[in-house]
Amino acid sequence: MDIQVRVWRQQDSSDKGRMETYDVKDISPDASFLEMLDVLNEKLILDGDDPIAFDHDCREGICGACSMVIDGVAHGPEKATTACQLHMRHFKDGDKIDVEPWRAAAFPVIKDLVVNRGNLDKIIAAGGYITAPTGAAPEAHATPVPKKDADLAFEAATCIGCGACVAACPNGSAMLFTAAKVAHLGLMPQGQPERDTRVLDMLQAQDDAGFGGCTNMGECSQVCPKGIPLTLIGRLNSDYRKALRKQI
Ligand code: SF4
Ligand code: FES
Repeated sequence: MDIQVRVWRQQDSSDKGRMETYDVKDISPDASFLEMLDVLNEKLILDGDDPIAFDHDCREGICGACSMVIDGVAHGPEKATTACQLHMRHFKDGDKIDVEPWRAAAFPVIKDLVVNRGNLDKIIAAGGYITAPTGAAPEAHATPVPKKDADLAFEAATCIGCGACVAACPNGSAMLFTAAKVAHLGLMPQGQPERDTRVLDMLQAQDDAGFGGCTNMGECSQVCPKGIPLTLIGRLNSDYRKALRKQI
């Protein structure tokens, strides 16, 4: 396949940034989107140009690092996948593809397609843990957990912290991420002691970090590579109201 990519180039956070156009030739339809960028970078390096900075680690859809907006969609046009799991066969020979970083006030650009997602870590640091002593791995049935709760907690725990939900939200809100983390712990018996302080502190940290408020647009869930459902935001709001009432 021969394609053309328009990529956001930005030297650092103080640079204004601009789109640059590159031709990429002879790409296998089975190459991943990141492998296509690798091929382009090899050419840029051989030509003595600055390669495009982009984040990645696992390249198998589990680390959440490969944050980029492809043709206006966080993680690209294929539903429920990460950029590293998107393959070039989803595009056509001769396509022109736009590639940009996450665009959100709370995710400042470090360089090109790499943004600083440290503000998600601040939300986790505010309450994404339990204080119960865990010790060695207990016998699996020592603490009974209803199947429905275990399944929902597992679903919430699949959030990989990629930040696509923030990038897709017109408000730049991190509510789907926070909702997943709050539900994941709040559904388990071990997560009950801090259930109220957790939701209050994590939402405060979210506001303090500069993420926007949720107005139920639903864009977050549409681009989430792990299919985290919007209903978890309803659960988060319910937990928040209950915790607030207990404070009065
Ligand atoms: S909720 Fe989904 S989109 Fe948001 S950080 Fe988690 S995995 Fe990524
Ligand atoms: S590189 Fe790990 S999810 Fe894409």
